[in-house]
Amino acid sequence: MDQALYRNPRAYDILYQHKDYEAEVEFVLDRFREHGNDGGSALAVGCGTGNHSRLLQRSGFDVLGIDPNAAMLDRAREKSSATFRVGALPDIELDRTFDLVWVPYTVVDYLELDTLPSALATLTELVAADGHGRPDRVRRVSWLPLTRIVSAVLA
Ligand SMILES: C[S@@+](CC[C@H](N)C(=O)[O-])C[C@H]1O[C@@H](n2cnc3c(N)ncnc32)[C@H](O)[C@@H]1O
Repeated sequence: MDQALYRNPRAYDILYQHKDYEAEVEFVLDRFREHGNDGGSALAVGCGTGNHSRLLQRSGFDVLGIDPNAAMLDRAREKSSATFRVGALPDIELDRTFDLVWVPYTVVDYLELDTLPSALATLTELVAADGHGRPDRVRRVSWLPLTRIVSAVLA
């Protein structure tokens, strides 16, 4: 899929200015808390211009956002003091885990079908051992049974 828009993050933000990021974060945090979780660390995969990251940080999370497009991260840094780093599925190399791993389907859609198994394995490794999550929707494939389920949310 073409990613030209992500070289122009200001245009991206104008295009998505009516997207209800607050409702999305609230929805995810409600599910998160339903499972007895509360705060902690969050990884925003494909964080883009950092709208979810900013709101997660405001909700008390220690947030790391990753995205392959550096221009998106520059824009994200203007919005919050969360940490942002270049990175991409399927091979995110981080030597730590997170209480919440946020993976919008709009990010999963950028993956080639044959990279999905390794992407899911990577994401599973990034979820804290006692973390919970739920897949809302993954297009094109049936969800694989995972011992620790990654939170794939609509965004
Ligand atoms: C539609 S945007 C969503 C951005 C943000 N989550 C939001 O809702 O505003 C998709 C994002 O996925 C990122 N992306 C593309 N391929 C990716 C990959 N392989 N791994 C992680 N992120 C990727 C793009 O750079 C872009 O910022």
